[in-house]
Amino acid sequence: MFAKRTNWNLAPNRLSAALAAHRAAGKPLLDLTVSNPTECGFEYDRSAILNVLSNPAALSYEPDPRGLETARRAVAGYYAGRKEEVSAEDIFLTTSTSEAYSYVFRTLCDPGDEVLIPSPSYPLFDFLAEIQDVSLVRYPLLYDHGWQIDFHALEQSITPRTRGVIIVHPNNPTGHFAKNVEMAKLNSICSAHQIAIIADEVFLDFTLEENRPASFAANRGAPTFTLSGLSKISGLPQMKAAWLIAGGPQQWRSEALARLEVIADTYLSVNAPVQLAIPGFLEQRHAFRRQVISRVRRNLAELDRQLAMQKTCSRLTLEGGWCAVLRVPATRSDEDLAIELLATRGVSVHPGHFYEFASDGYLVLSLITPERILAQGTSRLLSSM
Ligand SMILES: Cc1ncc(COP(=O)(O)O)c(C=O)c1O
Repeated sequence: MFAKRTNWNLAPNRLSAALAAHRAAGKPLLDLTVSNPTECGFEYDRSAILNVLSNPAALSYEPDPRGLETARRAVAGYYAGRKEEVSAEDIFLTTSTSEAYSYVFRTLCDPGDEVLIPSPSYPLFDFLAEIQDVSLVRYPLLYDHGWQIDFHALEQSITPRTRGVIIVHPNNPTGHFAKNVEMAKLNSICSAHQIAIIADEVFLDFTLEENRPASFAANRGAPTFTLSGLSKISGLPQMKAAWLIAGGPQQWRSEALARLEVIADTYLSVNAPVQLAIPGFLEQRHAFRRQVISRVRRNLAELDRQLAMQKTCSRLTLEGGWCAVLRVPATRSDEDLAIELLATRGVSVHPGHFYEFASDGYLVLSLITPERILAQGTSRLLSSM
């Protein structure tokens, strides 16, 4: 009686089962996979965050498919602060970036249509696409003196059913930003094939380089949807506040906005207290970003210090984001390696295959891990190689 699309294999994989057993047995764990910023020891301005949630204006209901104008203006202000011009009229508030993806897939795709996604990248996309009956087709990122998009393979992957290309900017877990020349190339491919760029910019603010990468939000060179939200920017995933921006050529944009408006009006999903709090939550991003960047830098320095003392493992170059990718000997599958590290060293890491790396030999560590844990965990990991 259920839809085929929900016919998932929900049995835990071997690593999740081993982790659950490790935890259930109460064994000590050095968890190098943490991604929930509210559990990483960052300091939040508790009273500022809670105060903006008690705005008396929340007692009345003023539905707007795009979301409250004050909140959308604050989001436009975030881009203005980055010198990117975005109109509040082109913004839709959503409860999460994941929900924004569902709006985009529903706007662009009929069942079975295709969307290209980078590989390696974040594993969330498979479920998001499947739930919307969208087929994902992977295009490779290549590592050669830093990560690059394989544009040849990307173009070869386009079929008459392709509706969009997802670019995660910077990508999770590789930490690669699209450079101006790559943005121009994406624009020319996507406008030639009449497909949309879907830019996921949840980690955009977390760059380690001096030059701030441009956002896709003000892109006019091809149909573009830009997705972001406060779960990463302000470290507030529990507030469920995100957005979707329609960009690109004027005529396409107007058509996209009209269609999105119907979808958004059908759900009106973001609650009033959170919408009213968005300007205040956005203010929190400065202090949060400073803490994250300083932790990421310190963790990277410690990782590099330990890596310099051995010859078996190395770290791939990264430009931003919250993850480091380690190149390790591919003497067994990444999953076997991760299970062994857990069993023998009490260290939890993500195997590369979790992110669809093209081969074994990669482990992913979270750089927002508290510093002492990252230092101890890395030391145990490297000593077992
Ligand atoms: C690249 C990327 N996009 C989207 C998300 C989900 O964001 P949200 O909490 O807004 O749904 C994540 C979460 O880790 C992510 O890594």
